[in-house]
Amino acid sequence: MSNPTLLILPGDGIGPEVMTEVRKVIDWMGSSRGISFDVSEALVGGASYDAHGTPLTDETMEQAQSVDAVLLGAVGGPKYDDLDFSVKPERGLLRLRKEMDLYANLRPAQCFDALADFSSLKKDVVAGLDIMIIRELTSGIYFGEPRGIITEGNERIGINTQRYTESEIARVARSAFELARKRGNKVCSMEKANVMESGVLWRRVVTEVHEAEYSDVELSHMYADAGAMQLCRWPKQFDVIVTDNLFGDLLSDAAAMLTGSLGMLPSASLGAPMSNGRPKALYEPVHGSAPDIAGQGKANPIACILSFAMALRYSFDLGEEATRVEQAVEKVLADGLRTADLIGEEGVSPVSTSAMGDAIIAALDASV
Ligand code: NAD
Ligand code: IPM
Ligand code: MN
Repeated sequence: MSNPTLLILPGDGIGPEVMTEVRKVIDWMGSSRGISFDVSEALVGGASYDAHGTPLTDETMEQAQSVDAVLLGAVGGPKYDDLDFSVKPERGLLRLRKEMDLYANLRPAQCFDALADFSSLKKDVVAGLDIMIIRELTSGIYFGEPRGIITEGNERIGINTQRYTESEIARVARSAFELARKRGNKVCSMEKANVMESGVLWRRVVTEVHEAEYSDVELSHMYADAGAMQLCRWPKQFDVIVTDNLFGDLLSDAAAMLTGSLGMLPSASLGAPMSNGRPKALYEPVHGSAPDIAGQGKANPIACILSFAMALRYSFDLGEEATRVEQAVEKVLADGLRTADLIGEEGVSPVSTSAMGDAIIAALDASV
């Protein structure tokens, strides 16, 4: 049988730096576990714009559609801030999500014991935390029409449209209920049904799907602003949170700080099953290209490495190997290794991106 295929899109800023460390883990899987991937690599974001004048070429889009899984680093940076919207780096990523129809974005926020003291919240609020935010990723205000900047009289008007069809809501709700059944069996749906019609429909459809297909799962609803507050107050009340594209973007960055750093949060963006029964999938850290630390060897590669672990679990049915990678990360953190983003107290010196990657490989070696 041929090897599973992976397309790597390192992107911009710290994207290529953290992806170098993921490559070590991919290579380790081949050499130490006999699990080899056919890996190809292409440009995305600003790097693609610089080379081809577009943040994603049609060839790379086609490649992404044809592989078993895509791994992406990060896109964007100040150099591209003034570009026309149609060619901004972020548009490359949005095109991948939209054309691959990756509607369910799984963003787990797990607090490793070794970092429980490091969160900006009190230890007992975050210790043992394990929640999953499911963000709708292909619709809502990110993609709704009309959009643009128009001029009426002497006024410029910026327009974006929040729009959800019931089938878009129903399918992401199903993803949330399915996942909840494999975890704590609880879903909290977040919207703003008090002020937005799309929120009213969201709540109605989630409730209908629940009643018809998942009444064994506990369902609650929360306004997204109250949800943000509850995430900081007592996040352990949640198991699975399902929410729309924009609220999910904000809530998952906030949830990152429960785990200690944005450099810790992985994600999986999943679509409908392909002919082999596996979902279309793209894996990427939740963080961006971190222009403030790019090129300095300071980036934390853990979010990207854990994103590869999610690929092992969700695209390749290699749950045990995914757990092995997660435990290797846990081990190096327990041993006290910290990249700069994880350093609070004085007297602890940070390790570089590559030293963190090497330590994770050493922990993997020790696991077999
Ligand atoms: P960011 O996530 O890049 O950085 C926010 C802060 O977190 C910075 O201080 C950064 O140094 C720190 N940080 C992020 N990841 C880290 C890591 N792995 N290790 C250590 N520290 C880390 O967000 P931003 O600064 O708002 O955005 C920068 C650029 O990235 C923008 O162009 C934005 O559009 C883009 N972006 C891309 C993605 C993506 O590709 N998925 C996600 C978010 C932002
Ligand atoms: C994320 C990012 C993206 C988003 C940008 C880069 C398009 O912030 O993946 O969280 O807003 O979805
Ligand atoms: Mn974001």
